[in-house]
Parts: sequence; C-alpha cells; structure tokens
Amino acid sequence: MDNKYDTELLTCSPEDIKRAAGMIRAGEVVGMPTETVYGLAANAFDEQAAAKIFAAKGRPSDNPLIVHISDFTMISEIAAELPQLAVTCAKRFWPGPLTMVLPKTPKIPSSVSGGLDTVGVRMPSHPGALALIAEAGVPLAAPSANLSGSPSPTTAEHVMSDMRGRIPAIIDGGECEAGVESTVICFEQDAIKILRPGRITAQMLMEITPDIRIDKGVLHRVDNSEPVASPGMKYKHYSPKAEVFLIDGTAEQFAEYVAKQDVKNGLCIVFDSSDMGGLKMPFISIGNTAVEQAHGLFSALRDADRRGAKVVFARCPKTDGVGLAVYNRLIRAAAFRVIEL
Ligand code: TXA
Ligand code: MG
Repeated sequence: MDNKYDTELLTCSPEDIKRAAGMIRAGEVVGMPTETVYGLAANAFDEQAAAKIFAAKGRPSDNPLIVHISDFTMISEIAAELPQLAVTCAKRFWPGPLTMVLPKTPKIPSSVSGGLDTVGVRMPSHPGALALIAEAGVPLAAPSANLSGSPSPTTAEHVMSDMRGRIPAIIDGGECEAGVESTVICFEQDAIKILRPGRITAQMLMEITPDIRIDKGVLHRVDNSEPVASPGMKYKHYSPKAEVFLIDGTAEQFAEYVAKQDVKNGLCIVFDSSDMGGLKMPFISIGNTAVEQAHGLFSALRDADRRGAKVVFARCPKTDGVGLAVYNRLIRAAAFRVIEL
C-alpha cells in the first residue's frame, strides 16, 4: 500500500487542477486543500473510489465521509430533504467551514455514509477545492487527509508525510487557514445540534436559531458500545506518538507542575511564550486567541512527533467560541487525561 504510487505534488494552477480532476474522474484519490484541513478527495458517487479513501487512511468503514460541493445546486443529488434551517445556514455560512448532516439520496453509496441513511455535506471556501470540485464535475467525498488516528494535516507536507505512496497526487494550496475541521451540525426540528465544534461557533449559529444544542460527545468520552450521533467521536483521534496530558491551571501553576515532572523528551504546548520564560522544558507556543490556537494546534502535535517527544504537557484552552473546537481536539489527543491544578 505504501508504495503503490509515486505521489506527485501539484499546485492550484488551472493545468494542475485539470490533471487532478482527471485522476478523480478515473476513480482515484487526490489530496485536496481546504480552508479547514487537507482532505483526501474522490468521486462521492463512486463506491470503489470511496473504498480507496478508506484504504489509504486505514479508516474504520462505519465512520462516514463528508461530501464537498462547489455549487449549491449540486446538493439536490446528495440530500433527499432540505429543511428550511439548512437553506438558511447554507446562505449564511457557505462557502465555509460548516458541514450539515442531511438525509441522503440513493446516489450516495452507503460506503460513503458509513452505512447511515444521512450524509454530511459542505461547500468549502478554499479556491483550490472549489476549482477541483467544479472541474471534476462531481461532488467529492473527503475525510481529513491524515492516517486514521493521527492529527489532521494543515499543510501539503503533512499530507505527503502520511500519504506518500498511498495516493497519486496532492494539491498544495498552502497552509490551511482554520486549522481545525469544519463544524458538523444536524437539525432537530427548530434546533441545531453541534456534533463536532469548529470555526463556525455556537454563538454564530445562534444568529440562525436560538435553540443550539451541543452533543454530549463534544466534551465527553463516548463509550464504544453506545450509539453515537457522529461516529467519528468514538475513535481515537488526533494523537501524536507522544503521550499527551492536558493541564488545567494558570500559566504559573503550569510552569510549577512541569518543573516537578521527571520526564525525558518532554515537550510543552503553551499559549503565550512570554509567560513561559521560567519553563524548564522545550515548548511550542500556539498563541493566545482561540483562533490562533485552532490554527496552530495540529501542526504543534505533529511537531511534537518530529522532535521525538515522548510526553506532551498542553495548557487547557477555554471552551467558549472557537475554543470549544480546540478543547474538543486536544482532549481527544490527550485521551481525556486532564490534570486539574
Ligand atoms: O473540515 C472538514 O470537515 C474536513 C475537510 C477535508 O473538509 N473533513 C473532515 O472529515 O474532517 P473527517 O472524515 O475527518 O470527519 C468527518 C466527521 C466525522 O467525525 C464523522 O463521524 C462526521 O463528520 N460525519 C460525517 N458524516 C456524518 C453523518 N452522516 N452523520 C453524523 N456524523 C457524520
Ligand atoms: Mg478526520
């Protein structure tokens, strides 16, 4: 599997997009930039192409893929019903980092929907993604382009490091702006339920309807035996090779705690480097605002591996606004190990 292809690095030039679209029409899988994270894209109507995505990622077959469109009219072939709330959300947030779970049409193979009768749909805003979908002429099923379980890729190099030899090409569209995956929502009558938090926040969704619910899997560990609203919640996720611990306390408490740890190859993920002058362990600073933290988090987790870190101590982010997305990813990277100071 690892050496099936001599993976090419393409650009977002019209010629390269045409080339990548040709590969997709031929049933292949291509690495695609989006504004959230890189995706592994294939024809969403082609069962065998979808199977190649699962194989390239090593992904469990009951974890559904998100279907990406470049034009709102494409949705009629994907979603069997479109509630008014969905239309309003699409008008307000598309193109952008919002995925809506809707009843699926028979055209979407059950392998794409992980055996569910619903499908996640989104219109990305990255011009490279929009051009690729338009040129391919079909909606593209695309999960994040990491090996299953690893942090999502936010640069073409990250994709290359996970997918070299496994797919024919990767389109380099630069560093992803958001850095965390799209907000995934479903509709419950007049309410919107957040299944996975992202850059589109609960507060932003409140402009559409006051009744915003947050699925319990967002903040808590999901038992593998329970039925879950979003199957992705139950899998081990975003994990670097290092053991990650989330440390809940002030910058001073964090530094004190770390100073007492006797670990080899430890690394810290912190917010503001100016607070961390006294820290006796190497650290990566991902910024003070939740938007910066979201942007830098996956890159920092991958960096920890590159540096050979065995243990990572990460500061615990706030859970409001985009912070909820940062917390949701970090707590999974930490396998729910939170140390309260
Ligand atoms: O930003 C993103 O959403 C990226 C880029 C490439 O678009 N894609 C992405 O896909 O993150 P993936 O496959 O890594 O995550 C999709 C998440 C999973 O947690 C999955 O369980 C959930 O969306 N999901 C997909 N379809 C669903 C459905 N029909 N019902 C409930 N959850 C669904
Ligand atoms: Mg993923």
